[in-house]
Amino acid sequence: MSIPKLSEAHHPRPQWRSRMGFILAALGSAVGLGNIWRFSYLCHKNGGAAFLVPYFIALLIVGIPLLILELGIGHKMRGSAPMSFAKVDRKWEWCGWWAVNSAMYGIMIYYSVIIAWCLCYVFYSFNLSWGDDPNHFFFNEFLNKSTGPFVFGDMRTPIVLSLFAVWFFTWFIVYSGVQKGVERANKVFMPMLLGLITILVFWSLTLEGAQKGLSVYLKPDFLKLMDYKIWIDAFSQIFFTLSLAFGIMITYASYLPRKVDIVKDALIIGFGNCFFSLFAGLAVFGTLGYMAHTQGVAVSEVVEESLGLAFVTYPKAISLMPAFAKVFGVIFFSSLVIAGLSSAISLVEAFSCAVIDKFHYGRGTVVTVVCSSGFILSLFFTARSGLFWVDIVDHFITNYGLVIVGVLECVIVGWIFKASKMRDHINHAGRLPLPKIWDISVKFLVPLILIFLLVAGLKVEFSEPYEGYRPIELFTLGQNWLLLALFVSIIVAFRPWKRELEEKQDESKN
Ligand code: ALA
Repeated sequence: MSIPKLSEAHHPRPQWRSRMGFILAALGSAVGLGNIWRFSYLCHKNGGAAFLVPYFIALLIVGIPLLILELGIGHKMRGSAPMSFAKVDRKWEWCGWWAVNSAMYGIMIYYSVIIAWCLCYVFYSFNLSWGDDPNHFFFNEFLNKSTGPFVFGDMRTPIVLSLFAVWFFTWFIVYSGVQKGVERANKVFMPMLLGLITILVFWSLTLEGAQKGLSVYLKPDFLKLMDYKIWIDAFSQIFFTLSLAFGIMITYASYLPRKVDIVKDALIIGFGNCFFSLFAGLAVFGTLGYMAHTQGVAVSEVVEESLGLAFVTYPKAISLMPAFAKVFGVIFFSSLVIAGLSSAISLVEAFSCAVIDKFHYGRGTVVTVVCSSGFILSLFFTARSGLFWVDIVDHFITNYGLVIVGVLECVIVGWIFKASKMRDHINHAGRLPLPKIWDISVKFLVPLILIFLLVAGLKVEFSEPYEGYRPIELFTLGQNWLLLALFVSIIVAFRPWKRELEEKQDESKN
């Protein structure tokens, strides 16, 4: 199959300065808000250590094979997701747009708002502004949460201001380019994040009662494994945490040099990310144990659902600290901000790179337009109804959007391009060989598991509407958002590539 040339006429492709730079950037994308609050919360909800069983199974049989697939196709085609898929077959370009559209205008627009909340909480930690009742503070004062998704209310000024800071910072890093922006930022962020989390882990383990939390975290309740919902949670968490099906890993691999060990790098990124989650979990559960011990109750009684873990439970625990409570708070929320920003950078980079590849506009213009429009759209989530919409959009994009794109990627690379050809490419580029079983995995096993997850998820959806929302609420921003992103993707995919336009012009001149 000859690969059509779709770009690079005027824009030589950027490259990572070093392999370490690439690994840190990919880890920066993977390690995000999801590793700290989402992972710990899911662990608690799904039987503590028992959750690690489906989690690591999901990592091994879906996460790592798909990560290799994404790194492989990006490296082979030297393009963003739309460009890589268009080079396989022009008919599939829309799937790449769907991935980067959902990442940028689906995930990033609410993800940036959660980072903005964390940034506000860094400042609130200086004087423990949440007082004696963090629950009331978060929902009633900070978010001033309305009574339903359609009761929008005004925008919250502190959130808007920190949201602007988040977008401005992300714009600055991505605008500065792959080496000077993305690579350099992650080289600072990742060691810093590891340092901060290490401090939190050791600190929390010295607290009285930490043991109580750790036994909830590390003692498995295997009965929970019988419930298929725990498996759905584990697989969708692996997608989210490894930034799979966002088009990010494809883009990052397109900046690699010819000779590269894709298998080894995928193992480092995949396991590195998951071990980071496990490590951060020690700090979270150690602190929860301390809190339960101080209040004389069971750990399960102190844990709040989902985002409440970070913004209600943790502030409560911070206030109870025997010493340096404010420092603990600043470190915890700063870690969330750093983890979130390094992922935000990758979400914007993946989309911007796709536009640059296709239309050959300059990086500065593209990144400025993308970040300005992203900021404006994300303002929607700063209204009093914001939390409802964060919840709905996150649920649909993570459980359906990402999983559908994952299946399509298996079809495009496994069947249309051919898994064996991709494996040959990967084995030529690096030293650690990719076994043949990978072909079977991406052609059959991964898509079948993902389709099963989709069907099981839909079954739950129809039997009990997500979190009791009304269908109109779920349709408006949930399903419709995905469909709108798909519609826009198809339209953009039909536009000719700049290179094709130039060739046509040359032909008509001759
Ligand atoms: N991978 C990123 C996270 O876990 C998006 O937050």
